[in-house]
Amino acid sequence: MDRELALEVVRVTEAAALASARWLGRGKKNEADNAATSAMRAMFDSVAINGTVVIGEGELDEAPMLYIGEKLGNADKPEVDVAVDPLEGTTIVAKGHNNAMAVLAIADRGNLLHAPDMYMEKLVVGPRAAGKVHLDDPLEKVIEVVADANNKRISDVTVIIQERERHEHLIEAARNMGARVKLFGDGDVGAAITAAMPESGIDIFVGIGGAPEGVISAAAVKCLGGDMQARLKPYTDEERERCKKMGITDLDQVLMLDDLVKGDDAIFAATGVSDGELLRGVRFLADDVAETDSLVMRSKTGTVRKINARHNIPNKPHLVME
Ligand code: FBP
Repeated sequence: MDRELALEVVRVTEAAALASARWLGRGKKNEADNAATSAMRAMFDSVAINGTVVIGEGELDEAPMLYIGEKLGNADKPEVDVAVDPLEGTTIVAKGHNNAMAVLAIADRGNLLHAPDMYMEKLVVGPRAAGKVHLDDPLEKVIEVVADANNKRISDVTVIIQERERHEHLIEAARNMGARVKLFGDGDVGAAITAAMPESGIDIFVGIGGAPEGVISAAAVKCLGGDMQARLKPYTDEERERCKKMGITDLDQVLMLDDLVKGDDAIFAATGVSDGELLRGVRFLADDVAETDSLVMRSKTGTVRKINARHNIPNKPHLVME
């Protein structure tokens, strides 16, 4: 992939963030999501790729835009896989909370996991612990290994976990070990990324969340030199059937980082919608100007770039809320 593509896709996440930030705190998560999805879809039309959504807003029958299999871009080449989450944190935006982002990942055709929109079990650690932990290890063992790899006391190890009933055993296990637990409400892409960034002070991300978020997180983790493993979690026969249709036969398979994102050239892009640990959210300023902060990373080079942009809103009429 051409390296300029990294800057092109930031325009796509910026558009989604600008559109959905208009809905911050209005109690309307579907409207916020639709705004992000339409803006992201429209902006993809101006990007010179031959893209296919491999994991995204759902299957054709449940998502009018950015559905799995949808073609994106306006060129024959490069042929790329696209994973999208136009608004990561729909509830966050509805409630006016922190840590909502517009996110996506791209890689050469065939290199991003093609899977249905369902739950996925995930484990993320930073570069020092990469290759030393396994998804099926008990959390107690993971904490010990990561403490050792990061040269930290167990009491200084921080595990980030989404606050859900299904994670109670993980929270208890980490606390019983003497490790610290940082709970978050929504937005597991940002949480997964912080676990791969040593400077964040977060050492481990563990838990079950969305599969699209998982594939997008994996692209970011690969860019940062961390490690991630995952397993799809279909809960119904219908979900198992959908997996089979997409060619996934071994549902128990632990997906290693290279299964989630193959090869060494993936691009991850995110723009903050509301203020968060990784990025500031959209600021609507005087005179119809809006400011955005984005993060774009490429696994081939390991470059992590932060981009601050000022947008003249009247020049972007499709992003203005009716
Ligand atoms: P949405 O933006 O689709 O609401 O997802 C937010 C999120 O917190 C994801 O980050 C996470 O993967 C998923 O929801 C977890 O699902 P659930 O809310 O059902 O536990």
